[in-house]
Amino acid sequence: MNTRKNIVITGFMGAGKTTVGEILARKLNRRFVDMDAEIEMRAGFTIPQIFRRHGEEGFREMERRLIRELALQHGLVIATGGGALVDDEMREVIGRHGLIICLNANKEEIRARLTQNHDRPLAADWESLLDARQSVYAQINHQIMTSGKTPTEIAAEIAALDDGALYVRTPDGGGYPIIIGGGLLWTIANDAESQGLAGHVVVVTNETVAPLYGARLAAALPRADLIIVPDGEAHKTLDTARHVYDEMLARGADRATTLIALGGGVIGDTAGFVAATYMRGIPLVQIPTTLLSMVDSSVGGKVGVDLPQGKNLIGAFKQPRSVIIDTDVLETLPPLQWRCGMAEVIKHGLIGQPALLAPDLWQPEEAARLVRQAVQVKIDVVEVDPYEAGIRAHLNLGHTFGHAIEKATQYGVPHGEAVAIGIVKAALLSRNLGLIDDDLVARIQTAFWKIGLPTDIALDSHRWYAAMATDKKWSAGKSRFILLKALGEATIVEGLAREDIMTVL
Ligand SMILES: NC(=O)c1ccc[n+]([C@@H]2O[C@H](COP(=O)([O-])OP(=O)(O)OC[C@H]3O[C@@H](n4cnc5c(N)ncnc54)[C@H](O)[C@@H]3O)[C@@H](O)[C@H]2O)c1
Repeated sequence: MNTRKNIVITGFMGAGKTTVGEILARKLNRRFVDMDAEIEMRAGFTIPQIFRRHGEEGFREMERRLIRELALQHGLVIATGGGALVDDEMREVIGRHGLIICLNANKEEIRARLTQNHDRPLAADWESLLDARQSVYAQINHQIMTSGKTPTEIAAEIAALDDGALYVRTPDGGGYPIIIGGGLLWTIANDAESQGLAGHVVVVTNETVAPLYGARLAAALPRADLIIVPDGEAHKTLDTARHVYDEMLARGADRATTLIALGGGVIGDTAGFVAATYMRGIPLVQIPTTLLSMVDSSVGGKVGVDLPQGKNLIGAFKQPRSVIIDTDVLETLPPLQWRCGMAEVIKHGLIGQPALLAPDLWQPEEAARLVRQAVQVKIDVVEVDPYEAGIRAHLNLGHTFGHAIEKATQYGVPHGEAVAIGIVKAALLSRNLGLIDDDLVARIQTAFWKIGLPTDIALDSHRWYAAMATDKKWSAGKSRFILLKALGEATIVEGLAREDIMTVL
């Protein structure tokens, strides 16, 4: 399923290969090899010293030897020297088991980076060297322009090109993979042993998803029971959890049983809560089937159920053993659910990955790439703030306005639509406070129009404000909003005046 090809990052000196490579390797839980550092370590000399002692040809020979050796390994992230893959044969050798990515930067940026580092033997005449190598770099299939992007954004773009698993680090020092691709549901069923699903499994799903995928998945696994609960947020309750406990006991589930949560966020949260609590916790595999649950709720470990008094009032942190995302199941997702998921995708773009605002990614045939890039934003947030003590709040961009719409309309507006409107309001508020410009607000509105999401609602502003002021995120009556500082960057702003808020409602 996962061939674990090497990811080979090349490009001109100063393009950021080492910095990006290190971040990417950490993200994907892979070993990082910086070729220049490896050669220095093996030779016992710095690169300038090697150039002085053996000349450029001596150094290139060391590079060729190392490339042949690395090409035989799998699952590495490799940052090459700038000239290492200029040789056609070396590109062919490392490309056999490797995905080669070329990083580009504009000349001003390269100049700026090279002046910070005087330790490169070929830097003196870099402009003519760049001109000479340009045609060779251009032959590499995957090109990424790095100018204006942070190393983290570039690493996320590369991660989206790779078809291997993403990886989430958890606070206990462990972690779990997120496997993404088309048709995975049937691959795992045929490969239950390697997925740890050969023993007793309960597949918890709902009445809608069971006939589409649940029954077939349970039948394909060697020892699986199917437990079906009613569909809808109204059933994200302790009663449903209780029903699942009863069914599991009746089917002899014990602490070695694995629970698969197969469905949207409601199933992920409810069945995840059962996995967190049944016999003090059993292994959980999340198989999200809505766009929202793929990019958001299946990752990060928050599970729980609602009470009549409010949503998500009972819950736990339960890290899954793995998250398996089969993007083919999106084919049956109702268009409204796709659009609602897209509201969260755009939110992820705004708080962490601007590439998600490119409309060519929003096509169903690009679903695997879209989900990869969007879920990476969630991973980056939950790894830094697993227990929601700080920046995890950024995931609530637009949600204070959105929850109030849901409350004021008695949930007449679907969550994703309310979030889209809320994000536009948050953008307008950010602009009024001088944090972002008109262009970014217009870009956000255009994105939602193109997706088919609303950007405003006819709602009495006083009612809207009143609904927000009772939000649990307003601490001690003080307003609290997640706003935008720039495209790809959110910030928390507290204590805004009522007039400032009313202006955008
Ligand atoms: N735990 C978290 O971190 C987190 C984050 C965000 C949201 N959530 C929770 O997620 C829930 C919303 O999740 P959701 O938007 O996925 O809604 P949902 O689970 O209700 O699914 C939406 C609808 O789509 C149907 N469906 C699911 N997959 C399908 C498929 N492949 N084909 C056809 N129909 C399909 C479902 O049966 C349901 O009717 C909320 O309860 C929210 O609180 C949790």
